[in-house]
Amino acid sequence: MNADDGMTLRGPVLGLESSCDETAAAVLAPDGIILAEAVLSQEQEHAVYGGVVPEIAARAHLAALPGLAETVLHRAGLGYADLGAVAATSGPGLIGGLIVGASFGKGVAIAQGLPFVAVNHLEAHALTARLPGLLPEGAPAFPYLLLLVSGGHCQCVAVEGLGRYRRLGTTLDDAVGEAFDKAAKLMGLPWPGGPHLERLAATGNARAVPLPRPLLGRAGCDFSFSGLKTAVARALAQGTARREDVAASFQASVAAVLADRARHALGMMPVATAVVVAGGVAANGAVRTALAGAAMAAGVPMLAPPLRLCTDNAVMVAWAGIERLRAGLIDPMDHNPRPRWPLAELAGAA
Ligand code: KG4
Ligand code: ZN
Repeated sequence: MNADDGMTLRGPVLGLESSCDETAAAVLAPDGIILAEAVLSQEQEHAVYGGVVPEIAARAHLAALPGLAETVLHRAGLGYADLGAVAATSGPGLIGGLIVGASFGKGVAIAQGLPFVAVNHLEAHALTARLPGLLPEGAPAFPYLLLLVSGGHCQCVAVEGLGRYRRLGTTLDDAVGEAFDKAAKLMGLPWPGGPHLERLAATGNARAVPLPRPLLGRAGCDFSFSGLKTAVARALAQGTARREDVAASFQASVAAVLADRARHALGMMPVATAVVVAGGVAANGAVRTALAGAAMAAGVPMLAPPLRLCTDNAVMVAWAGIERLRAGLIDPMDHNPRPRWPLAELAGAA
């Protein structure tokens, strides 16, 4: 990683995302205006297996990414020669997909003589809310609390500045989206089960089935969901509770736990200016309401990027690239993708 004095971008930035099961590409103008974006979900390919199969994901990224990059460039009325930089997710995530995206990105950068930014996927989620013009409330100022609630991640992160992150808490077992998916599977719902479970829960009684609220009230802001999943399995196996009541009670339990953990996280960073939520679970109405309540109690706004930018996308990757390029942070062409890449190991701005 080289840090110099920041750099003037001479053209738009191509962002590439391929760390899990979404292939995505986007082009952003140097000021962060979105010129074109596209996401291809591999949900169909993986649904029959009930989860993401890494080898299938890597092959699907390889098949889709070059065409998708051309599509967004075409939509933006640009060619590769017009670009000013390339940013590709280089971790954390599934190594096959990361190699596809990072190698393709470096190929474009080398061919066009452009700077390359190896983007940390978690940093990209963390910085999305700062996209110019995105939120009616305006971009949050540092420091803010990020609640990353997706299928692969469940973390409370203190976002203190570009490249400066402190993980306040994480899950001890399953990610929250994974918990939704496992509970949904137990209820016989298709994968990924989160949205199906939410629809089922809408017809149920959230107080009908007593379920545990793991770590609620405990110090810190770690999460745990495996005990809750076991309790769901037990409640369903007994055969006395209605499925929709189990779904509603499960969702209420998760929402209460997330709000409690967010409250604790805010207690750990009293200077936070906002709570920013990201990840697919941010789509859940009960979760959003509970988190908004926790934020309000602390006197800060809860900010949620539009859902398409909460879930995996390439706009956030291009934007993280722009923030890094502005700070003079570019990466060498021998930067290797990292399946594990904690935020704490990121180099930040001076
Ligand atoms: O961020 P995302 O699209 O992908 C990654 O995991 O990176 O998140 C997907 C996760 C899945 O576990 C899915 O079931 C969950 O988000 N999800 C939801 C809802 N919509 C998506 N969980 C609960 N309620 C929803 N409405
Ligand atoms: Zn993600």
